[in-house]
Amino acid sequence: MGKIIVGNWKMNGTREEAKELVSGIISGLQDVEYGQIKIILCPPFTALAIVSEILNKQRMEIKLGAQNCHFLPCGAYTGEISPKMVADFCQYVILGHSERRRYFNEDDALVNRKIKSALEYNLRPIVCVGEWKKGDSSQGILSQVKEAIKGLKRDSLRNLIFAYEPVWAIGTGDEADPSYANKIIKEIKEAVGQNISVLYGGSVTSSNISGFVKQPLIDGALVGGASIKAKEFVKIIKRVMK
Ligand code: PGA
Repeated sequence: MGKIIVGNWKMNGTREEAKELVSGIISGLQDVEYGQIKIILCPPFTALAIVSEILNKQRMEIKLGAQNCHFLPCGAYTGEISPKMVADFCQYVILGHSERRRYFNEDDALVNRKIKSALEYNLRPIVCVGEWKKGDSSQGILSQVKEAIKGLKRDSLRNLIFAYEPVWAIGTGDEADPSYANKIIKEIKEAVGQNISVLYGGSVTSSNISGFVKQPLIDGALVGGASIKAKEFVKIIKRVMK
């Protein structure tokens, strides 16, 4: 299985800035063999159209993801975006990111509902789980995993990607120890009981990415801050391919 690198742009970028960023990434990746790696960009909703247009025009192998979605296909939910609308542009959707759990009170039951609905629209959910405090046991993480997959058929499980993102490591520059992340990812894979991809996320940069992807069970990375600098993101991808 090739490695997966996801760029989570979070709440950053006007259309013009998004255009510049994706163009920078494309030109930095001219010589890349896409068979070895899957790249997924997750711009904010307002930039999905422009980024998708640019990727299509360039016939790039890069895939598109959204950062969230509602669980209903349509309706009177001011300010929300449905999985059906996301599926218009994207193949992937990040669900249960700790910033959604923390600032928008998303709980495990809601994340589970969103996952089921995203799958109905043929979106592949990238489900984020992780402990809040350094040193917390893996019990909480595994309970997030079990709640996320509750009621899912075995068949649909293989369409999920998990991202192990220790919350204390997100945006702090204090990344997890790669062998520790590998151990937790092993437990996540065992809890799902299917051969699924699990990524690591939290302060990934071009200087530490190699340590993570060298681990036997880490299938790639979910990159936040370092994904909105074209040169740095390209560097991360090239390190993964070495
Ligand atoms: P970071 O964010 O790379 O900036 O730590 C990762 C994430 O939140 O997905």
